[in-house]
Amino acid sequence: MDFGGPWTQEKLEILEHYLDAYTTALKNKSFKLLYIDAFAGTGQIETQERETAEFLAGSPVRAIAVGNKPFDELIFVEKQAARAAELQRLRDKHPHRNIRIENAEANGFLLNLRKDWQTWRGVLFLDPFATEVRWSTIQAIESYKALDTWILFPVSAIARMLPTSRTPDDISRQWAQRLTDVFGGESWRELYRENPQRGLFGDPGSVREKGVDGLVRIYKSNLQELFGDRFLGNSRRLTSSTGSPLFEFMFCAGNPRGINVAHRIASHILDRM
Ligand SMILES: C[S@@+](CC[C@H](N)C(=O)[O-])C[C@H]1O[C@@H](n2cnc3c(N)ncnc32)[C@H](O)[C@@H]1O
Repeated sequence: MDFGGPWTQEKLEILEHYLDAYTTALKNKSFKLLYIDAFAGTGQIETQERETAEFLAGSPVRAIAVGNKPFDELIFVEKQAARAAELQRLRDKHPHRNIRIENAEANGFLLNLRKDWQTWRGVLFLDPFATEVRWSTIQAIESYKALDTWILFPVSAIARMLPTSRTPDDISRQWAQRLTDVFGGESWRELYRENPQRGLFGDPGSVREKGVDGLVRIYKSNLQELFGDRFLGNSRRLTSSTGSPLFEFMFCAGNPRGINVAHRIASHILDRM
């Protein structure tokens, strides 16, 4: 895997702190603990900053390393076969751990995930490159009521798909469908409003709210509607080294009874790191 920039480290540190604190908090409970990395990569990330390659531990390696109360099962989902093969090699280095590698598409895998959710609790990390996570997948995750979920919402990829002037109908049908799949409906169209300069310069239709705040607001409101109190309003904007927004890192607790602990840990990490 290639290194995206300092924000890569930032998201991984937030996740790692959460995994440590979460497993510690559930240490004396009877639940079996599951970690799912739905966009797992290879296990490590090449930083390429010097001539000799250097590596940063990726999310799968960090999840395996959680030590105080290790996860009872770890599932790494990766669509690309060569990357999944690297994950198999990582698993082979940990023969005593219960690690399952799925060379599969993440949405399909999560939709069909079957576990005894009375006895299992866990953490799910959704770390796509861009707009791969469908709303129907988020709905399935919500229905399990067992997985604390960290979601990287791809604001820059989405902003690039949406023209700032003209009308949402100018987007290709394929992109419009992709946005509808991501947002779970047409809510993304709320970003557009009538163009106040219409007519003056012959501008047609409407303009899109600038920046990514509107995108984040709409997606958060959809999450809030679906997860209710389990959705955490606090989130982290991950930016490039020049300051442009890339992803919004968001969190939802899995089980209604675990809200207080999950939110306290996640908020503490988001506020302090
Ligand atoms: C940002 S990288 C993940 C990095 C990893 N979480 C880490 O910290 O090392 C995204 C990964 O998701 C994989 N991927 C992309 N689309 C996918 C899909 N629909 N289902 C499963 N994996 C996918 C890519 O091949 C890539 O390895």
